[in-house]
Amino acid sequence: MSFDIKKIREDFPILKRKVNNAPLVYLDNAATSQKPQQVIDCIVAYYSNYNANIHRGVHSLSQEATDAYEKARKTLQLHFNAAHSHEILFTAGTTESINLVASGFSELLKTGDEIIVSALEHHSNIVPWQMLCERTGAILKVIPMNEDGTLQMDRYSNLLNDNTKLVFVNHISNALGIINPIKKIIEQAHQVGAAVLIDGAQACSHIKADVQALDVDFYVTSAHKMCGPTGVGMLYIKEAWGKTLPPYQGGGEMIATVTFEKTTYAEMPHKFEAGTPNICGGIAFGAAVDYLNSIGFDAIKKQEEALLSYATEQLLQIDGLKIYGTASEKTSVISFNVSEIHPYDIGTILDKLGIAVRTGQHCTQPIMDFYGIPGTVRASFAFYNTKEEVDALVNAVKRATMMLS
Ligand code: ALA
Repeated sequence: MSFDIKKIREDFPILKRKVNNAPLVYLDNAATSQKPQQVIDCIVAYYSNYNANIHRGVHSLSQEATDAYEKARKTLQLHFNAAHSHEILFTAGTTESINLVASGFSELLKTGDEIIVSALEHHSNIVPWQMLCERTGAILKVIPMNEDGTLQMDRYSNLLNDNTKLVFVNHISNALGIINPIKKIIEQAHQVGAAVLIDGAQACSHIKADVQALDVDFYVTSAHKMCGPTGVGMLYIKEAWGKTLPPYQGGGEMIATVTFEKTTYAEMPHKFEAGTPNICGGIAFGAAVDYLNSIGFDAIKKQEEALLSYATEQLLQIDGLKIYGTASEKTSVISFNVSEIHPYDIGTILDKLGIAVRTGQHCTQPIMDFYGIPGTVRASFAFYNTKEEVDALVNAVKRATMMLS
């Protein structure tokens, strides 16, 4: 399919609206993506035509809903190239996926075991592991970062040893956009027998991850970053780990048999999916992945790389503007400050001009502490953004800078 930006933008009704009497320029895609009509229609169709509980009824609606939900699981399996559809678990999002794994490992780790996270992690990939360390006596180690936003890979090699049981790194940093060398990180961890969880929340709308090629143990993401709804996400769990980890929550559907003496558990994926799930969310997640694939990840990459490089070049013309995260392996995010102006003040003026960006720490306080700053202004692009929107951003930052200097 040729990349027709005008046609693609037609798919997103929200892009037609105005904010503060100016056309909306949505550059907060790293926080959440906008939703195409195809996904909105899928949600409406579910609630209008076949809303029912799944895996529980002989009646037709229940069967239709079950088939659609399991079809979405299959879509995710094929998209991420998992060996089995039962390795794809639906969760409430990346944060729940990470907490599910952390909770399972609290029964497997012992005092003195070591786990490694990177300095670039989102709080959701730091705090659950700190809580796990408090519960088990395991020790948390950190791969430090460089000024350009890359990880110190030689320090990572030195941190790995026979006590290392788990490594957690994001595929792409949400605050800086840096793409981490996850294949190498996984290979090195496996050499000492450690398992690896990759947080793909920021990556999956830009890059198609192949979990078998990566040989990753756990890969997590959220639908809402991929043009899907909020409140639903994925945990890819390698089959062997799915058999080893204990269930996360007890409840209906995750059991094989229940008596007051003893309960036995269902097989994957149901073992980890207690209770009525976000049925509509799961189905719409599948529709969102289909939508992204209909655009094509090569086309998405080309458009986003062009926007990133044009925006970087234009923003750097502004006096006093500094970009954080300057490594070349980078996608779709520009985090910046202008002189000593507080990022919140710039963000507020941009909003008045219809431009949506995120300001602050982006749930990555350690990165901000590393740079010694209170936060940044973060503009994050999606394939439906345009060069004209980048121009609007650059002009608005110039205007804000003049007003605030
Ligand atoms: N993790 C999301 C962000 O980076 C919310 O903004």
